[in-house]
Amino acid sequence: MDKSNGLRVILFPLPLQGCINPMIQLAKILHSRGFSITVIHTRFNAPKASSHPLFTFLQIQDGLSETETSTHDVTLLLTLLNRSCESPFRECLTKLLQSADSKTGEEKQRNCCLIDEAGWIFTQPIAKSLNLPRLVLNTYKVSFFRDHFVLPQLRREMYLPLQDSEKDDDPVQEFPPLRKKDLLQILDKETEQLDCYLKMILETTKASSGLIFVSSCEELDQDSLSQAREDFQVPIFTIGPSHSYFPGSSSSLFTVDDTCIPWLDKQEDKSVIYVSFGSIATIGEAEFMEIAWGLRNSNQPFLWVVRDDSVVHGTERIDAIPKKFIEQLHEKGKIVNWAPQQEVLKHRAIGGFLTHNGWNSTVESVFEGVPMICLPFVWDQLLNARFVSDVWMVGLHLEGRIERNVIEGVIRRLLSEAEGKAIRERMELLKEKVGRSVKPKGSSYRSLQHLIDYISSF
Ligand code: UDX
Repeated sequence: MDKSNGLRVILFPLPLQGCINPMIQLAKILHSRGFSITVIHTRFNAPKASSHPLFTFLQIQDGLSETETSTHDVTLLLTLLNRSCESPFRECLTKLLQSADSKTGEEKQRNCCLIDEAGWIFTQPIAKSLNLPRLVLNTYKVSFFRDHFVLPQLRREMYLPLQDSEKDDDPVQEFPPLRKKDLLQILDKETEQLDCYLKMILETTKASSGLIFVSSCEELDQDSLSQAREDFQVPIFTIGPSHSYFPGSSSSLFTVDDTCIPWLDKQEDKSVIYVSFGSIATIGEAEFMEIAWGLRNSNQPFLWVVRDDSVVHGTERIDAIPKKFIEQLHEKGKIVNWAPQQEVLKHRAIGGFLTHNGWNSTVESVFEGVPMICLPFVWDQLLNARFVSDVWMVGLHLEGRIERNVIEGVIRRLLSEAEGKAIRERMELLKEKVGRSVKPKGSSYRSLQHLIDYISSF
């Protein structure tokens, strides 16, 4: 770590795995540049303080019951959290600033800013009232964040219901490169609550002191960045892929099973299909079996992350993966509850990644040059998948067809056919470009320096 610069940054992550990882990455980067770090967090999905002894952790009560926190409806969860965390957060931040004011001499550090997430909609007015600049950390791709505010309008104006199925593949002009069928999946639910939430996110982001995209870089988001700068009128920093600065994730909320690494060591180069759908997505039992048979019939070894809560029957979770299937796996496949994903993607044995295209997973895959098989479920995943398959052309899209023969076929196309070779070559080029961005003089490297200068100036 650089010598302390006497400045403290206060962080407030959303309690979701896909948000905690990037926030902790940012904390490590800032700490290595001399900043002290205080993390305010909820009781639910609290980060493991013991893994980060150099940071200060302050827990606030979120007041949510176990039933509420076990929902898979992210909008509902975020609405509940925003409702219940406002007062505890205000109290905690006020006390923190007051206690800093009362310190003297060497102990005294200046709180330079709050960095939290767009999904916290009450923090901007609180920070303003306390005279603390607030920056918004964002875990989405820039183009998704910029364009998704158009969703309420699209919902109102035209897209639901889509009458003519022949037009399913048409592009959505207002939200490229989405296709109409993707949009249907995004607009699927009745979401008056969501529209209102989005409006608040837009307003509070525009009122903030800046936007930080931790997992994006100019190379992945060039066009949307200049438009986003015009739209938001605040400084925007793209510093990703941020996991490249401190590889390995110590901020995992799940227990990592690293027995998969010695297992991977035994496999041939670029032969294994890695399967993971992130920290939230669930699949039905029938879909689970189709994927299982598709993997098995492909005859390629596979490593599959199946979280305890990821297979459901109706709304009930299925704790035991069908036993018959495990018996049939033998040496061909390995199932783990949670993998050290960044390490796995780096492994020479990995040949492809069957992914839900969460933005973190997508960028981690690009960073390691692993071609993807896209199976997006919800929200930004649909857009990320289109970039992978249609724009960068570094993966194949399942187009939602969770069928054993389709999965088997797509694995074969990716690993054994000329099409797969061309995909791997394009991925290699993209990997190099993105890798350069975080090296000295690269776009993300420079953006990070600007961010540090900016927050030091407050
Ligand atoms: C959520 C949303 O679903 C996603 O659409 C959005 O882009 C980010 O927030 P999540 O679904 O968890 O995220 O997916 P993703 O963004 O890919 O993040 C998952 C993180 O968990 C990655 O950093 C990945 O490395 C890590 N992970 C995943 C593991 O460490 N081990 C695993 O076994 C699986």
